[in-house]
Amino acid sequence: MSGPIVVDSVVALRAQIRDWRQAGLKVAMVPTMGALHDGHISLVRIALEKADRCVVSIFVNPTQFAPTEDLDKYPRQLARDLNRLREAGAQLAFTPGVAEMYPTGFATKISVGGPSSGLETDFRPTFFEGVATVVAKLFLQATPDCAVFGEKDYQQLCVVRQLCRDLDLHVEIVGAPTVRDAHGLAMSSRNAYLNEAELVVARKLNVVLRQAAAQLATGADEASTMSGAAEALSSAGFRKVDYVAAREAMTLAPWRRGREGRLLAAAWLGATRLIDNVEVSPA
Ligand code: PAF
Repeated sequence: MSGPIVVDSVVALRAQIRDWRQAGLKVAMVPTMGALHDGHISLVRIALEKADRCVVSIFVNPTQFAPTEDLDKYPRQLARDLNRLREAGAQLAFTPGVAEMYPTGFATKISVGGPSSGLETDFRPTFFEGVATVVAKLFLQATPDCAVFGEKDYQQLCVVRQLCRDLDLHVEIVGAPTVRDAHGLAMSSRNAYLNEAELVVARKLNVVLRQAAAQLATGADEASTMSGAAEALSSAGFRKVDYVAAREAMTLAPWRRGREGRLLAAAWLGATRLIDNVEVSPA
């Protein structure tokens, strides 16, 4: 099986996509920052069910990292990523450098309201501006018919849907279920930072969230369930809990009992920040 075509310029990306369009082919995109794991590969598989060709972008986007965050140490492993894309059957890897995406003089930022308020934004105030700006650029560069995003980054998925609705970006956004290890830990490129002892603790995050979601579904008080979940995470060994919060599944407004909800959390293990989320059933 041959590997994906690799292009690092917007001109070459557009030329290839124009050829595919002329041949009547449908194109799906999977935006990533590389360090590909089984979660990403599941997105590629879904993309290939929805379209004839799959473009995977690999770009560690500096504008979504705060100066205090892990931009420099974020794992970069292009050769390994390309190998995984070959196995998964993706046809094109778009691997632009920073100068291609943000040439000298670049001065635009996209700020999305609605679902970006609260949660991640309370702790990473410029994160979604960086994500929305780079995702809008990728969509304008590749003009995919659809794009697949993991539900692991649930708030990001909601923000990208809002971005496309508000700016009339003609891209169908497909949300894909979170891929988890045998202990329920959500796959994440940042799991690579965890040592053995931290991994054991990390695997409690989904357990605590599921327990709290089950309590909400059977009528438990929301505030005490949230504080109980935060305490359970601290007792399990998380250094700091940024938030545990129940939100409306579609809008991320405060959850109302009887509605589809999502329970979202972010917590620190040593120097690593993990996020996860689970469904809250309306019952
Ligand atoms: O989820 C990610 O990996 C990134 O936030 C994304 C969507 C590729 C934008 O840089």
